[in-house]
Amino acid sequence: MKELFDLTGKVALITGSGRGIGFVLAKGLGQAGAKIVLNDIDEDRLKQAVALLKREGVDAYGRIFDVRKEKMIQEQVRLVENEIGTIDILVNNAGIQIRAPLEQFKEESWRQILDINLTGAFLTSKTVVQGMIKRKSGKIINICSIQSELARPTIAPYAASKGGLKMLTRGMATDWGKYNIQVNGIAPGYFKTEMTKKLYEDEKFNAWLCSRTPANRWGEPEELIGAAIFLASRASDYVNGHIIYVDGGLLGCV
Ligand SMILES: NC(=O)c1ccc[n+]([C@@H]2O[C@H](COP(=O)([O-])OP(=O)(O)OC[C@H]3O[C@@H](n4cnc5c(N)ncnc54)[C@H](O)[C@@H]3O)[C@@H](O)[C@H]2O)c1
Repeated sequence: MKELFDLTGKVALITGSGRGIGFVLAKGLGQAGAKIVLNDIDEDRLKQAVALLKREGVDAYGRIFDVRKEKMIQEQVRLVENEIGTIDILVNNAGIQIRAPLEQFKEESWRQILDINLTGAFLTSKTVVQGMIKRKSGKIINICSIQSELARPTIAPYAASKGGLKMLTRGMATDWGKYNIQVNGIAPGYFKTEMTKKLYEDEKFNAWLCSRTPANRWGEPEELIGAAIFLASRASDYVNGHIIYVDGGLLGCV
């Protein structure tokens, strides 16, 4: 049974994995046996993350690129495939959040969110899928959000980007399923990372969130690893175009 979830011999690329959820998922996929290619736009953060994973016994590499820059992605993916191995698993995790009332939201910030959270996943997938199509095999995991379904004040552009990513997941599964490529999403609820630091340091928000969430608490990034291993492994070979909500029950109740 363990073989179903074994990633030995696979190569996984995780975008925006210098810290936070991406880093934890990289560690989990690495511990399940995959060679890990970390990515970030922050060079120091990336170096530290690679060193940390290596210390944990993971076969880890780092590649700097910006998920908004197609040429850069193509160049780095080519190098990865020549030097490390062909990419079997892609996790589109890079993402940002900017909070402001929608009527005051700057166009520049709107574009930044859409470019990284949505277009970035399209450009990276379009590049990596070329090899997957040739090999007739691949797993793509898009890190969506509870905000793929639910809005909240001051984050409408983020919700639009994650709602778009949910539908892009279904679109990718539709176009690429015939090549034996499975594209699914993981939608985290609220997890403690740098992105949500302001929220969990805010007592009022904290109290509201815990009372609103059936699990009564925040999620720990490690709690996303199980869903990632499932969607990256043979165990999910007939699962395509779905989103797994890992949210302590938040989406299921009002
Ligand atoms: N933290 C949560 O509660 C939560 C909930 C739902 C969804 N998510 C999603 O999970 C993903 C990771 O979030 P996190 O909380 O770990 O955030 P984080 O800010 O801790 O980490 C994001 C990483 O992405 C990198 N990055 C940003 N722009 C990039 C780009 N253009 N190219 C490459 N890398 C880039 C950053 O440098 C950073 O290291 C995001 O897509 C986020 O929207 C997070």
